[in-house]
Amino acid sequence: MIRSLLFFVIFIFWGEIFSQNNGITLIPRPQSIELKDGTFKIDKRTMVYFEPEFEIAGEFLNDFLQNGAGFQLKKTSEKEADLIFKKDVSQPSEGYFLDISDSKITIKASDASGAFYAVQTLRQLLPPELEVPLAPQGGNTSFSVSQLTITDFPKFQYRGMHLDVSRHFFDKEFVKKYIANLALLKMNTFHWHLTDDQGWRIEIKKYPKLTSKGAFREETRIGHYEDKPERYDGKRYGGFYTQEDIKEVVAFAATQNVTIIPEIEMPGHATAAISAYPELGCTGKQIPVATTWGVFDDIFCPKEETFAFLENVLAEVMALFPGEYIHIGGDEAPKLRWKNCAHCRQLIKDKNLKDENGLQSYFIHRIEQFVNSKGKKIIGWDEILEGGLAPNATVMSWRGVQGGIDAATQGNDVIMTPVSHCYFDYYQSENTDEPLAIGGFLPLKKVYSFNPIPHELKVGESQYILGPQANLWTEYIPTEKQAEYMVFPRILALSEVAWTGPSQNFETDYPDFFSRVEGFMKRLDALNINYANYLYEIDGKILKENDRVFYELSTPTKGKEIRYALNGASPTVYTKPFLIEKDSKLTAHVFKDGEKLGRDFSEEIKYHKAITGQISINVQPNPAYAAGGKEALINGIQGSDKRYGDKEWLGFWGDDLEITIDLGEETEVHSIQTRFFNSPGVWIYAPKVINIQILKELKEDALFQATNQFYRTQTKNIVPIEQKFEGARGRYIKLIIKNYGMIPDGLQGAGHKAWTFIDEIIVE
Ligand code: ACM
Ligand code: ZN
Repeated sequence: MIRSLLFFVIFIFWGEIFSQNNGITLIPRPQSIELKDGTFKIDKRTMVYFEPEFEIAGEFLNDFLQNGAGFQLKKTSEKEADLIFKKDVSQPSEGYFLDISDSKITIKASDASGAFYAVQTLRQLLPPELEVPLAPQGGNTSFSVSQLTITDFPKFQYRGMHLDVSRHFFDKEFVKKYIANLALLKMNTFHWHLTDDQGWRIEIKKYPKLTSKGAFREETRIGHYEDKPERYDGKRYGGFYTQEDIKEVVAFAATQNVTIIPEIEMPGHATAAISAYPELGCTGKQIPVATTWGVFDDIFCPKEETFAFLENVLAEVMALFPGEYIHIGGDEAPKLRWKNCAHCRQLIKDKNLKDENGLQSYFIHRIEQFVNSKGKKIIGWDEILEGGLAPNATVMSWRGVQGGIDAATQGNDVIMTPVSHCYFDYYQSENTDEPLAIGGFLPLKKVYSFNPIPHELKVGESQYILGPQANLWTEYIPTEKQAEYMVFPRILALSEVAWTGPSQNFETDYPDFFSRVEGFMKRLDALNINYANYLYEIDGKILKENDRVFYELSTPTKGKEIRYALNGASPTVYTKPFLIEKDSKLTAHVFKDGEKLGRDFSEEIKYHKAITGQISINVQPNPAYAAGGKEALINGIQGSDKRYGDKEWLGFWGDDLEITIDLGEETEVHSIQTRFFNSPGVWIYAPKVINIQILKELKEDALFQATNQFYRTQTKNIVPIEQKFEGARGRYIKLIIKNYGMIPDGLQGAGHKAWTFIDEIIVE
């Protein structure tokens, strides 16, 4: 009740700021902010008082000013100070109160975290130029901040960001910068993915070969791992952190109020470890550190020697990381080796386990007991639910939100990081200039729309959702610059979901957020962060009204002009949706004060016979891949050849589909075309058969029909079909599409239902 009242107040205050456009670009948005007239001046004479509990916050502020302005605030007594940090037990955990008046800045918090976040807010109120290191004599020495009052606290206690340093290695200086950027956005957890098939990255004193051998691969795959033929670069690649490096990063993270969760993968993604110590695998054979991407069959064999090894490794890891959590992986462990291993088969019998899934569950339980016995807790990817969940484990739900729902229903804690909204290795723009990515499509807007609490959960269950996390897997991210490009600006959206909470009113919140992103880019520039800039991209949309088709253009930032050209005509300033009456080609650009901004926009509209029709589908598309709604299948626009997550493709998980199009009246039909996405690496398969019918009346039998058995083992992403008809007339069109079925053994996602992705249905 109190919360909802608070939200109401917040909204009014924030709305005011937005309309006044005061240039305040706080991200994440505070829960409530009240602006006043006037400013407060910070300069060399400003004096500070903080209680010892708030030392991290106070020192951060002084380091920040020293770095950017060349001075620090002198420490003094509470009575004399102009900037006061005060303990106030009534403030919520990690929350703070910040008041800036003409004569004083008052910060109140009940814990060190809250004081730290008050400082991050104050930092964002100061000019971005202060982020740039200066010689002590240089720059301004006096800064004005707006008078205001902010009351703020996080929606979620867990606000995480992940980095995979195995597929590509990022040195400790970059990792520190990455962590510092989390602090700026009030994120409190860094998930450090330290081991995988392509490299073991943390020194373990007891097992030196993990890094002397396991940290280096002979070469690296070039291009996408679905590309044929396979090509390799022939260059040895690797690197690792010494324990001293790790200590340095851990100590730095403490100054940023960030907790690190180290991940040591087991039982799968263990190729690098097994290459160093072959006896850890089922076969005992020497294998190389992986040089390509994917899921590998050689996983840890659950022998006593393997458990001893893992416990020794974890003991060293736990001694280095002070946080309460250790991530033990648990994802993507193919059971092939276990099925063929005499020891594994015997163990399944001896322990009365059902099968290899039961063995995986036994494996994770055993590790959990060890970790718990050292006073720490485990986190695992959602596969740890299979075969029975470890009792105290926290689940990271990544394959969707179902794992999170199942875990929360069982009373286990959950971190939400579904591929659909949190995988920052996906493409973020439809522009064809984007650097090669793993696939998918996750634009900023979709991240912003994320709600970590699935609506399926009851009130009492949603408390187990600790918060969201975004992941950066680095198969296709070889450089620091590219890592930043994939993270920024999407992490701004995630930080707002995590701190402020999921948007309650997307139509007003997203434009407000977006306008702050535009302002925030000055700070990202000052911080030398290589962010992706698609602020000046154009979004196009088909609108239909009384059997007429219009095209609407928009660009997300305010105060810009769009100029468009239709079918080669000369460019026109866009004012309102315009009529489309035939196949059309369109180009458009964003302008400000006559200057062209951003990248080119173009669109092709196919004015086919179904464009003014009505469509129905027997099932809803999966909410994660339903951006355009069912209308997207008959709007005249085809989806991207590479990005099935755009607003033209619809995704269905495991469903058989029956799609019906009503053309409005009896119509001659010469051909029907559509396309399916096919990307086995991400569990998307074109169906094997599709039946197409033309009907006069829905209740009657088809007048014309054809069945396509078009599926071959496809290496291409797009599977097109075209069915021609002769002399066919009818009012209704039906497409009956059977899902591919279960994904076969030996492939990624084996044993799971396949996805079906379908694009525009073109009727001519
Ligand atoms: C994962 O993306 N394999 C957790
Ligand atoms: Zn085995």
